[in-house]
Amino acid sequence: MPAERTLILVKPDGVRRGLVGEVIRRIESKGYKIAALRMLTADKDLLATHYAEHQGKPFYEPLLEFMSSGPIVAMIAEGQRVIEGFRSLAGVTDPTLASPGSIRGDLARDQGTKVVQNIVHGSDSVESAQREIKIFFPNL
Ligand code: RTP
Ligand code: MG
Repeated sequence: MPAERTLILVKPDGVRRGLVGEVIRRIESKGYKIAALRMLTADKDLLATHYAEHQGKPFYEPLLEFMSSGPIVAMIAEGQRVIEGFRSLAGVTDPTLASPGSIRGDLARDQGTKVVQNIVHGSDSVESAQREIKIFFPNL
């Protein structure tokens, strides 16, 4: 079966705290392959496309503010069932509740900010992955 692909982001909080290597280590230790990687500072137009599903929600503006506040690292990871596999590695959205052992559970906590800062993003379905990979890697 052809390997599945997902879009992973190390968010500005993860980059600021020097956790890029730790996130990559967990992805590679699990056995997924990093197929592409780039660092960028995302502008709000790019983020509005990426987070279109959240437009109108109370955390939308703070989310764009946060996500454009510094460099992020975008990656394509590859492997059988990598979409659900990385979501499991990441843990649930709220880092206070994310299980110990997960990226968010081990490395993040509530910082009292307007929007949850939780180190990583991972696509949540095959359709989202295809859409999000095109946004960050238009040539791949
Ligand atoms: P992600 O898209 O970043 O992988 O996270 P997710 O699927 O677990 O969460 P999602 O519902 O897609 O939300 C996207 C990001 O928005 C922020 N958020 N803040 N109530 C809040 O303050 C709130 N809800 C969501 C988080 O940064 C979340 O990861
Ligand atoms: Mg999401």
